[in-house]
Amino acid sequence: MALQASGVTLISLFHQRRPLVVRAVASDSVSTITGEREKVKLGGSDLRVTRLGIGAWAWGDTTYWNDFQWDDRKLKAAKEAFNSSIDGGINFFDTAEVYGAGITGAVNSETLIGSFIKQRQRTGEVDVAIATKFAALPWRFGRGSVISALKASLSRLGLSSVDLYQLHWPGIWGNEGYIDGLGDAVEMGLVKAVGVSNYSEKRLREAHKRLMARGIPLASNQVNYSLIYRIPEENGVKAACDDLGVTLIAYSPIAQGILTGKYTPENPPTGPRGRIYTKEFLTKLQPLLSTIKEIGQKYGKTSTQLALNWLICQENVVPIPGAKNAEQATEFVGALGWKLKDHEVEELRALASKTRSVIGFPVEKL
Ligand SMILES: NC(=O)c1ccc[n+]([C@@H]2O[C@H](COP(=O)([O-])OP(=O)(O)OC[C@H]3O[C@@H](n4cnc5c(N)ncnc54)[C@H](OP(=O)(O)O)[C@@H]3O)[C@@H](O)[C@H]2O)c1
Repeated sequence: MALQASGVTLISLFHQRRPLVVRAVASDSVSTITGEREKVKLGGSDLRVTRLGIGAWAWGDTTYWNDFQWDDRKLKAAKEAFNSSIDGGINFFDTAEVYGAGITGAVNSETLIGSFIKQRQRTGEVDVAIATKFAALPWRFGRGSVISALKASLSRLGLSSVDLYQLHWPGIWGNEGYIDGLGDAVEMGLVKAVGVSNYSEKRLREAHKRLMARGIPLASNQVNYSLIYRIPEENGVKAACDDLGVTLIAYSPIAQGILTGKYTPENPPTGPRGRIYTKEFLTKLQPLLSTIKEIGQKYGKTSTQLALNWLICQENVVPIPGAKNAEQATEFVGALGWKLKDHEVEELRALASKTRSVIGFPVEKL
């Protein structure tokens, strides 16, 4: 997203403690500048994003997160998470039109991000990459619905374009129209890159082919992927992403907090997460969680950082952990700039394989 004026080169200046960035929109060849983290290309698109993004589902949400309540304290914490991410060099944010939408007391996550960007702009230029998603609701038909929904998202975000626009889940009536809508969005200049989410191998290959026929690369497939949810390795999605040159964006990469090690059989998560990650499941997970902690200690890293680094080590994967506050966002930054050894990656996979994945969202059957 070009929040900054289109220019020719990248110039990074420090403004107070924040990097002030003036960036050329078509500056594909320059990937790292002072104060910024390493960037990777999303699939075959020209879009470069930080090696890790920040998920914004919890911002404003009252259906799954936040004990079903949103208040000023949580708003302040979310804004601090946004600012700390940027301060730490992570500027890729993932949201969706349905996050925080349509429920009394909730606030739309896109609206919140739009206001965080505006507030931050008051202290200087802001260079962020925003990904949002189209909800393939059963009453939405065809390519026109994608463009209308995208325009509404842009209005909430206060932007003229987004970096990545994704189909949040497959449509029940078919996907051709939606895929064509993604292509239209690129051609209209409303998005830099397009992706899908929760797409099976077959749907992924179909979407890739349909867009390629128009010369548009499918940049990404966003799916549930973590050390304890390795279904993409088993159902062909990871292999297909690698084969097609589509980046796998890993959602719920720390298994909704479970891989941080803070939840135990004695202290399981509350709310909807408690029904997924039960006391029994957490008990079975203890050997893995202990090993994660032990290996982490060798590197001076936390369990959260280790779990995220494990995903980064899979290559062609960009994890997007959700941060509710500055501390969580800052911890994610420590997942970058180092790598687990191959034998540690495999040791963790082998140990994790001893526990069956729990189904948080039964999307792989979609
Ligand atoms: N495309 C899709 O269908 C889909 C589905 C799900 C998610 N997503 C995307 O992926 C993003 C991330 O997934 P997610 O939010 O489901 O799960 P996640 O990133 O695995 O877990 C996030 C949660 O873990 C806890 N946490 C985060 N950092 C922590 C830290 N450093 N220490 C301890 N606890 C920490 C926080 O909850 P507590 O503090 O309450 O424990 C936080 O809300 C979402 O925000 C969204 O953008 C997409």
